[in-house]
Amino acid sequence: MVKISPSVLSCDFADFGNEVKKITSCGAEYIHIDVMDGHFVPNISFGFPIVEAARKSTSAVLDVHLMISDPEKYAEKFAKSGADIITFHYEAVENSEELIDKIHSFGIKAGISIKPKTPPEVLENLIKKVDLVLVMTVEPGFGGQKLIPECAEKVKIIKKMCENAGCSPEIEVDGGITAENVNMLKEYGANVIVAGSFVFKADDTAEAIRQLKE
Ligand code: DX5
Ligand code: ZN
Repeated sequence: MVKISPSVLSCDFADFGNEVKKITSCGAEYIHIDVMDGHFVPNISFGFPIVEAARKSTSAVLDVHLMISDPEKYAEKFAKSGADIITFHYEAVENSEELIDKIHSFGIKAGISIKPKTPPEVLENLIKKVDLVLVMTVEPGFGGQKLIPECAEKVKIIKKMCENAGCSPEIEVDGGITAENVNMLKEYGANVIVAGSFVFKADDTAEAIRQLKE
C-alpha cells in the first residue's frame, strides 16, 4: 500500500491549520512540506514557522523537503520544529553521508533527493544509509507543473539498485502527479506519492487521496 504525502505548497495558507487537519482526516499518512530559499530554486516558500504550525495541527508524519542551499546549516532547526523526515538535495551538499548522519543524530529519518537532470547512479553508495529517496518528477521550485516521463523512469533504476544492494528505503516521487499517471509510478516501485495541486485543487479531497491510493 502506498502512502500519500500531499504538498501543502498548494494549500490555502489563510487556513493552514485546518488544511493540514483536513488532509490528515482524509487519509494522508504524510504531510509534504516544501521549503524553498530563492537560491537553490528560483522561488521562495516558507520556513520553520510553517513546520511548527503543521506539528501543532497533526500527528501525521511531517515530510520536509528542503530545496535550499546549505541544508546542513538548517537541518537541526527543522528537526526541532517538528520534522519527522528531512530530505535534502544531493546537488546542494558536498558531503551527503555527513548530512545523513547528522539528520539521524536528531533522532529522525533522512531522505535524499535528485533533480531531473541528476542521474540515479549518484545515489549508489547512499541508498543503504537513507530512509527515503525522493525522485523529482518536475524541476523543483513550483507546484502545478507537468510530470517529466524520463524522470519517472529513474524510479525503476533506483528500485533495482536497492534490490541489488539489499536495502529498501522508501521511494518517493514528487511533481505533476495525478490519478492518471500515479499507477505507472507505483509499478516502477514508488511507495510514497507527493501531490500538491491534485489534492488541494480537488473539490473532494478524500476522493482525490483515495484515487491516488487505489
Ligand atoms: C516542487 C515541489 C512539489 C510540488 C508538487 O518543487 O517539490 O512538492 O509542490 O506539486 P504538484 O503536485 O502540484 O506538482
Ligand atoms: Zn516537494
